[in-house]
Amino acid sequence: MQHFHTLKTSKVSPETNDCIHIAFEIPENLRHEFAYKQGQYLTLKFNFGEEEYRRSYSIVNAPSDKNAAIEILVKRLENGVVSTYLNQKLKVGDEVEIMPPMGHFFTNYHPSNTKTYVGLAAGSGISPVLSNLKEALFQEPKSTAYLLFSNRSFQDIIFKKEIDELAHQFEGRLKIIYLVSREKHHEGELFEGRISPEKLDAILDQMPEIPATESTYFICGPSEMIKDISNYLKKDKKVPSLQVMYEYFAAPDDEDNAEMSDEFKAIPNLESMVTLIIDDDEYSFHLNSKKNNILDQALVDNLPVPFACKGGVCCTCKAQVLEGEVFMEKNYALTDDEVERGFVLTCQCHPTTNIVMLTYDV
Ligand code: FES
Repeated sequence: MQHFHTLKTSKVSPETNDCIHIAFEIPENLRHEFAYKQGQYLTLKFNFGEEEYRRSYSIVNAPSDKNAAIEILVKRLENGVVSTYLNQKLKVGDEVEIMPPMGHFFTNYHPSNTKTYVGLAAGSGISPVLSNLKEALFQEPKSTAYLLFSNRSFQDIIFKKEIDELAHQFEGRLKIIYLVSREKHHEGELFEGRISPEKLDAILDQMPEIPATESTYFICGPSEMIKDISNYLKKDKKVPSLQVMYEYFAAPDDEDNAEMSDEFKAIPNLESMVTLIIDDDEYSFHLNSKKNNILDQALVDNLPVPFACKGGVCCTCKAQVLEGEVFMEKNYALTDDEVERGFVLTCQCHPTTNIVMLTYDV
């Protein structure tokens, strides 16, 4: 199981009015554990007063950057306890509790590939998209990349300097299209507004050099945008699912997200003996299938289980089912292949057999 480690900040610099760019130094003895794939995220832990807070932030840099530090971007949210602290109080040299990188928002690159990658990002959703596109450009000399990046205004464009430098460095292989939603765009109305299926359709029409069906897409931004764009690509443009990759920051806010789904209502009402394996130790507790999820019950019992979002988004609470069966309410993090291999998000799981055994040591 992954554990938290104390890392020191080596850079804390404002990126825009409401975003801070933070780099963490990785000491020699933790280099192996903090080796990451492009598009992964870090989970940070803070204690303010009696309360513990955990938040996940995508890594901005790419393994081929050859940068010994790991960088994240944190957007200040209204009433966001952690994001406000990081934006307003964090200093260079401060120590933060961080879990090693996790996440699946990446594809594997190979130098012989000749592919097209299209990044679709809105606001702070740029972090994992940029990380992926950079790695693609470094690793695959024959591949090309396009970035469609929407922000409120030109002044709000996150990492604009770095992105423009990258476009210069990879001239001919990287094309950037900025969209702005709250001001006029000098290149016309097509580039004004948010990234929507209609907007993307019009842009793809204007840019026949992007092979829409053959490209691989990385999408990150508000959940509504992710849902609409991924549906449009898969259904209207017939892009194979494996080429449409997306990363949610939060669970989609829709009817699938209702208090209790019909599928959950339909599971049997039973008492289960749940056993968890955590760092080679076994812990057991009784749990009614209709009550707490497995993670919540483990936390009530003070077990050292890993978690962050508790919303089925981050996959920090991932475990593998060794015995019995569980019902998973939501899953915005695990791949189909992982689900087939018995991996589950314990923050979303309820037992559906009398005996259930899961391991976090995966
Ligand atoms: S804690 Fe994030 S998916 Fe379970």
